[in-house]
Amino acid sequence: MPWNKDNLRDIVKEKIGSHKFIVVSNREPYIHSYSENGIRCLTPASGMTVALDPVMRACGGTWIGHGSGDADRDVVDGKDHIQVPPENPLYTLRRVWLTKEEEDTFYYGYSNEGLWPLCHIVHVRPVFRESDWESYKRVNEKFADAVLEELGSDQGFVFIQDYHFALLPKMIKDRRPDIIVAQFWHIPWPNPEAFRVCPQAEEILWGLLGNDILGFHVRYHAINFLDSVDRSLEVRVDRERLSVFKGGRETLVRPYPISIDFDMIEKVAGSPDVEQRRSLLKSDFRIRNRLIGVGIDRMDYTKGIVERFNAIDRFFERYPGYVGKFVFLQLGPLSRIHIPKYRQYNDEVYNRMVDINEKWRRKDWQPIILHKIHLGLEDVLSYYRAADICIVSSIHDGMNLVAKEFVASRIDEKGVLLLSKFTGSSRELEQAILINPLATDQFADAIRQALEMPLEQQAERMKKMRDAVRENNVYRWAGKIVNEMKKLM
Ligand code: G6P
Repeated sequence: MPWNKDNLRDIVKEKIGSHKFIVVSNREPYIHSYSENGIRCLTPASGMTVALDPVMRACGGTWIGHGSGDADRDVVDGKDHIQVPPENPLYTLRRVWLTKEEEDTFYYGYSNEGLWPLCHIVHVRPVFRESDWESYKRVNEKFADAVLEELGSDQGFVFIQDYHFALLPKMIKDRRPDIIVAQFWHIPWPNPEAFRVCPQAEEILWGLLGNDILGFHVRYHAINFLDSVDRSLEVRVDRERLSVFKGGRETLVRPYPISIDFDMIEKVAGSPDVEQRRSLLKSDFRIRNRLIGVGIDRMDYTKGIVERFNAIDRFFERYPGYVGKFVFLQLGPLSRIHIPKYRQYNDEVYNRMVDINEKWRRKDWQPIILHKIHLGLEDVLSYYRAADICIVSSIHDGMNLVAKEFVASRIDEKGVLLLSKFTGSSRELEQAILINPLATDQFADAIRQALEMPLEQQAERMKKMRDAVRENNVYRWAGKIVNEMKKLM
């Protein structure tokens, strides 16, 4: 039976029953901010929130997240709650407030200058400051307090998201051993040699072993985690069972490849609104009658945007017949811009684009158009639908949901996906053209292969990839975790 929101809801009711269902993440799914026309509600550019929001819509419950919008405090009730989604409330969002100092040290510092580069092996050296670590501990405590407050004296299931909260599972378990705690690590887990440079490696591992279930996108990351534990802690690691035993308790370590709400994306992609935006786009004089490539990413050094531009440059060198005939649109918001490395990366991407455009430009054409904006779902889908090719060239990525969204949007079974083999999604989307973003010549040839692929072959590949994502959708991902959790109750 295919998974959808209805059967996930039934399973959650049947299996979790009277337990409270609580999700915790740093990034909140809805952000309120002031604009010229009053308060607006925005959704962030985050693969994690994109995946979890449909699950929460189906299951209900409470999502605890950092209230990061400048109007967030003005719309919550006395318990810091607001019902979301705003147009049709289906679950509760509980906001936790962080000071500017906590944001600088916990979020920008330990989480994103320390753990993010530590886990993504892309040759950006992680920075570990003692003061960031102290703040990381304090903020994890703050969220533990919020979780326990939301639970009251009830039984519950707490589902923690990501690397911002490595200490939270143990903090919850120490205070409430009866609560079932699971966590999903949305980014890669590195090999033990890479992980051991973390000065707080042991505390991080002990914190995560507070979980009953710990999920990664792929088996390889689960094994890396078990290897890290085995090297550092005096515990029993069972590689066959994929679990860790310590002090009479077990943590199951499992691969659960995350996904998207395929049916919803397919529906919106086929809507008249998206159709209209798509034709408008196609009539833009800069891209009209040209082959179109699209890339949509947060401006992050793990996404391989400079490598993508290098491959486009090489493509024109090798195949000059395409000069004036192919245009590449790079879209997506600035990200974590207070971190120097992100600012440098942003400059690097911009400068590379300027150089390539200068080198190749013609009277009414330039090869790369860069828009640093955060697009809503309808716009994202119109770009995917207008594209001949979509490029995902991450140097390292836990999963990458852009690849799956592109596939779900192509109801016409046209379009070609170029996908980095260093993404989790490349394990499922075998019919994409797989690339190594650093192998510039091969990457350039792959662009040509994609642009020249006959329509029947496009359809054959797209159909298989669509079948895979339709079946392995986000409801199946959540359903598997709920089933596993049920066994622990
Ligand atoms: C990745 C992380 C998410 C995060 C997202 C956006 O997908 O796994 O947890 O929300 O990046 O990053 P940001 O720092 O803006 O939340």
